[in-house]
Amino acid sequence: MTKKFNVLVTGGAGFIGSHAVLALLDAGHRPVVIDNLVTGFRWAIADEATFYEGDISNSELVQKIISEQNIDAIMHFAGSVVVPESVENPLKYYNNNTAKSRSLIQSAVTGGVRHMIFSSTAATYGIPESSPVREDMPTVPINPYGTSKLMTEMMLRDVAAAHDFNYCALRYFNVAGADPHCRTGQSTVGATHLLKIAVEAALGKRASVSIFGTDYATEDGTGVRDYIHVSDLASAHVIALEALAADPERSHTLNCGYGHGYSVMQVLDAVDRVTNNKLDRKMEGRRAGDPDALISDNTAIKQHFGWKPQYDDLDQIVQHALAWERRLTDIQTT
Ligand code: UFG
Repeated sequence: MTKKFNVLVTGGAGFIGSHAVLALLDAGHRPVVIDNLVTGFRWAIADEATFYEGDISNSELVQKIISEQNIDAIMHFAGSVVVPESVENPLKYYNNNTAKSRSLIQSAVTGGVRHMIFSSTAATYGIPESSPVREDMPTVPINPYGTSKLMTEMMLRDVAAAHDFNYCALRYFNVAGADPHCRTGQSTVGATHLLKIAVEAALGKRASVSIFGTDYATEDGTGVRDYIHVSDLASAHVIALEALAADPERSHTLNCGYGHGYSVMQVLDAVDRVTNNKLDRKMEGRRAGDPDALISDNTAIKQHFGWKPQYDDLDQIVQHALAWERRLTDIQTT
């Protein structure tokens, strides 16, 4: 029988955090959520999880939770995630993603929490020299969002060297889909992510989908990304937790993606296939800062953790995203 952990999940009311709570419960661990509910939703947190409403920068509260709940590890999702917003308001990102992470790490060290799993991003690479991108390739972020996350990776590295503490930074590629049992999903208001926009359009919540750039150096000219099902990403966090506890001397920085990509056209084609309908597509110019292709090399996570994705299937990702979008309509109208 493997050890069961008490895990503090920051941002557990958000898209990825709420899936991690489910994955922890499904694996028999005990999630405790802290979320300030600025972008997350109370209803997205599974009933079985303990919930504290508050901010991760409130170190008094975080330390109270750590001791009250006997926290073994922290999964840190809380933060701001909109790339263009980070360009307009960088200090918001350096506060929410960097300064508040510093405060959380301090609380962890003070409270004797020995492990942290951190939501990092492929945005730490900037525009990679080549794709698939490996973890040891240069990290040259091109926006404050990527920099704010990379700075937290650096803090974790230094803290792990100085204290009785190890961490796993997971660099997410394009997270998509929803819980296969439709218990939670992407619920952000005004989302900018391609698949979320496409399923909203498929359900008549938007008139059309804009395609940002048709002259990229890709097969059909539209941008290529590595779309990973959110439940596979959540399961990677649970494996990371178990790996950190099994070998406390070792920390990890790992890509989280499937290692292959789809173009914007291919994603929209998949939505058309699943709905048996045709999305209205509007060809537009390139969006600033978008690389041609961003695909993970996922050799390391597979080798170190034996991670085995279960939902590496674009049509299934679309089906789950659509099912959740329908359910969300019901939640929002009742
Ligand atoms: N796209 C469109 N139309 C849209 C939205 C997106 O054509 O309405 C295109 C983009 O140009 C890009 C692809 O679809 O080629 C994916 O765009 P997303 O906005 O869905 O995602 P990004 O790849 O820009 O961003 C994702 C994460 C970020 C992260 C980044 C780099 O959402 O958090 O990957 O890792 F920073």
